[in-house]
Amino acid sequence: MTRIGPYLISGKAVLAPMAGVTDLPFRQVCREMGAALVTAEMAASNPLLRNTLKSQLRLAQADEVGPRIVQIVGTEPGQMAEAAAYQVAAGAQIVDINMGCPAKKVCKKLAGSALMKDQALVKKILHAVVGAVDVPVTLKIRTGWDQTSRNAVEIAKIAEASGIQSLAVHGRTRACRFKGEAEYDTISDVVQAVCIPVFANGDITTAQKAVDVLAHTGASGVMIGRAAQGNPWIFKEINALIDNPAESCGLFTGKSLKLLEAKRVERLIINHLLHIHTFYSSYDLLNVDSKAKNSGNFLSDLSIKVARKHICWYFEQLKLSAGLTNKGQTSFTKDPDHLLRSNEQILSNIENKDAIRATSVVLETARSRFNKLESQSAQLDFLLQFFGELHTIGDKTT
Ligand SMILES: Cc1cc2nc3c(=O)[nH]c(=O)nc-3n(C[C@H](O)[C@H](O)[C@H](O)COP(=O)(O)O)c2cc1C
Repeated sequence: MTRIGPYLISGKAVLAPMAGVTDLPFRQVCREMGAALVTAEMAASNPLLRNTLKSQLRLAQADEVGPRIVQIVGTEPGQMAEAAAYQVAAGAQIVDINMGCPAKKVCKKLAGSALMKDQALVKKILHAVVGAVDVPVTLKIRTGWDQTSRNAVEIAKIAEASGIQSLAVHGRTRACRFKGEAEYDTISDVVQAVCIPVFANGDITTAQKAVDVLAHTGASGVMIGRAAQGNPWIFKEINALIDNPAESCGLFTGKSLKLLEAKRVERLIINHLLHIHTFYSSYDLLNVDSKAKNSGNFLSDLSIKVARKHICWYFEQLKLSAGLTNKGQTSFTKDPDHLLRSNEQILSNIENKDAIRATSVVLETARSRFNKLESQSAQLDFLLQFFGELHTIGDKTT
């Protein structure tokens, strides 16, 4: 069990905040799949941006299972403190501070991971935010600014002394952005240096890697980002491997198109689609400043776009599952050429090549067709019909 303020967290795998990804429907899917904590997308601390649709959608949602974590990003201590209080009044139960994001538009204003360069300012921000709210405040950082200033340990100590109640550390510097491989030695040093819970983050793409990173770092938990996109059952796999190392290998991965798992997976995908449609379509635009909201289909169009992104990720992941054996591993990638290359490698190593190649082609065609659908009902009908047909292929491949 990990304690964050009054909250006892059972489970070691948590969902990373991802702007444009970790909306309420996706957070709920990840929760159902065993994520111990989920964090909403970062919300700007600038009050001028408060009534944009983006900011409103990123407020804590009353019907979300707690603890509801909202992340804030910004530069000025007073504004950050005020933003934290505003988020708590709107229902946040934990406030997370983003000092991990390398995105340009955040860093231009010395926010996100750029703040790590200025330890005095970090201290001021943390003190101001912790002092402004009576809920736990947590912090997400990188290992440092660049290779020559890996100051995660110093920042972690400042955080602990300022009353921060847990840390997430992405094993890259700000300068690395997303390049190269995450390293876990610095995270290990942070764990040694502070008594508050630390979550290790970066490039954790399989349950086995999660277990290895936990062992290497001694962290209280692992934080999963990109590997959960289209693949939320990674949380179940990690929990299962931790609880029962001997039996859980390949619960969903590997030949996950076997009928039993496939049925669970397709129910999850269809429910996720329905939830996206409902969440966005019925969103209350009362407090939103936007000309676009007056156009009749505005929210429904938004829901269709969001659904495309998530459902296409599912197709990509199903394609990977179709081509992998339990022994086969591939690193997460969004590069379709790499996907094809890794599928080719896998195909050359396993039996039943034709059926698997056929499944891959069917899934890729489905992904591309789904991406062009233009209404909610077309999206739902497509999935219902597609999964019916997939059972036939599932029968052939098992
Ligand atoms: C699309 C995307 C959006 C992200 N948005 C945020 C964010 O809003 N706040 C934040 O602290 N980190 C953000 N991150 C960084 C992730 O939380 C995480 O630290 C990073 O992806 C490394 O973990 P991973 O290798 O498991 O993906 C984002 C990453 C991605 C890919």
